[in-house]
Amino acid sequence: MIKSAEEIEKMRTAGKLAAQVLDMIEPHVVPGITTEELDNICHSYIVECQHAIPAPLNYRGFPKSICTSVNHVVCHGIPSAKVLKQGDIINIDITVIKDEYHGDTSKMFYVGKPSVKAERLSKTAYECLCIGINMVKPGTRLGDIGYAISRHAENNNYSIVRDYCGHGIGRQFHEEPQVLHYGTPNTGLELQAGMTFTIEPMLNIGKRDVKLLQDDWTVVTKDKSLSAQWEHTILVTSFGFDVLTKRPDEVFNLGSSDISV
Ligand code: MF3
Ligand code: CO
Ligand code: CO
Repeated sequence: MIKSAEEIEKMRTAGKLAAQVLDMIEPHVVPGITTEELDNICHSYIVECQHAIPAPLNYRGFPKSICTSVNHVVCHGIPSAKVLKQGDIINIDITVIKDEYHGDTSKMFYVGKPSVKAERLSKTAYECLCIGINMVKPGTRLGDIGYAISRHAENNNYSIVRDYCGHGIGRQFHEEPQVLHYGTPNTGLELQAGMTFTIEPMLNIGKRDVKLLQDDWTVVTKDKSLSAQWEHTILVTSFGFDVLTKRPDEVFNLGSSDISV
């Protein structure tokens, strides 16, 4: 579970590439485009420009290179002929493999101008991610992080999805430990420098219950309420954390990107 300095360098590279895909795709997320077109653009960019591998493609039978989760889709939406329309919200989840190591990150995009309720949901989901990230340091326990994330969601009258969670990441897409977005303070794994894992809270406007569609991938809210998710890949450093998938426009308070483990 603890990465060596050489492994961390590769994780940094993979994380940066995944972040760059999200920035690259942003101007394409407009009314009229299909999620399949977004997938094609990301696929070509990852393969031809980054000389990397889109991890979702053929992962446990997943048929596309990215996940596109629109409106009440919670996660693992499969790119299709679905046309995005003004007012939709979409999570685009990018995982790339470079030099055998994974970087995994996702964010919400607004298609045109969002509704007030969609914007509030998306912003609160991002705050939940940031609250979790800011707690990362040696000695923090995973239960503390999960508790803080769910408290913030629930204080804002949203529910936290419990059926999917963050995960350790490295040579494998999904490694130990599981990173739950709810929990009990003072319980769970104690973080140590050199661990790498994702935090990726999913918040629903309605109830937390989800349903898996017939395609065996698409996860939707049971009550059809809107859902939002943001994800970063995090490294535990000796002093705190480093966000390996940070985009240039993001700032994290307690980060220690200049200090390695
Ligand atoms: N990127 C997702 C995650 O955050 C996993 C997607 S699995 C796939 O863990 F097969 F749908 F790509
Ligand atoms: Co993930
Ligand atoms: Co992901």
